[in-house]
Amino acid sequence: MRIVVAVSLFFLTSTVFAQTKKPASKAVAGPGQQVYEQYCLTCHQADGGGVPNLNPPLKQTDWVQGDKTRLINVVLKGLQEPIEINGETFDNVMPAHDFLSDKEISDVLTFIRSSFGNKAEPVSVEEVKKVRAAK
Ligand code: HEC
Repeated sequence: MRIVVAVSLFFLTSTVFAQTKKPASKAVAGPGQQVYEQYCLTCHQADGGGVPNLNPPLKQTDWVQGDKTRLINVVLKGLQEPIEINGETFDNVMPAHDFLSDKEISDVLTFIRSSFGNKAEPVSVEEVKKVRAAK
């Protein structure tokens, strides 16, 4: 009898632990992070640090944390002009990503605006839709 109690206690606690673990790991890799890893990471790197002289960082830049319309347009239209980011000049080509859905763009921009030390408000699907329509 004692063994049965011990065994069922073991299963009870392990299922409780398994359940508390799951949502936590899901929250870490949210939809925005998945889009980032698939479409942006190769150039802007996992930590958003970019690559010197090639791809600018996404850490505390005016572009990432500033005007949302300008930021949404970077993803929709790409960027190809000399820009200065945190004191360093970049003049490379970022390809347009207009093949991403409004939801994917809102997710990835919300992700970068709240990662890499950034603290800017989310970008909604509606805002992306509006900018795309105004293109
Ligand atoms: C092929 C490489 C490449 C990919 C893929 C790429 N970028 Fe870029 N990105 C660049 C380059 C290069 C620039 C700077 C362009 C210039 O100099 O005009 C840039 C600029 C930016 C900027 C503005 C400058 C800054 O650092 O704040 C943002 C924001 C940005 N990218 C976000 C993204 C996001 C989000 C994705 C994924 C959806 C992405 N990029 C995918 C290469 C890339």
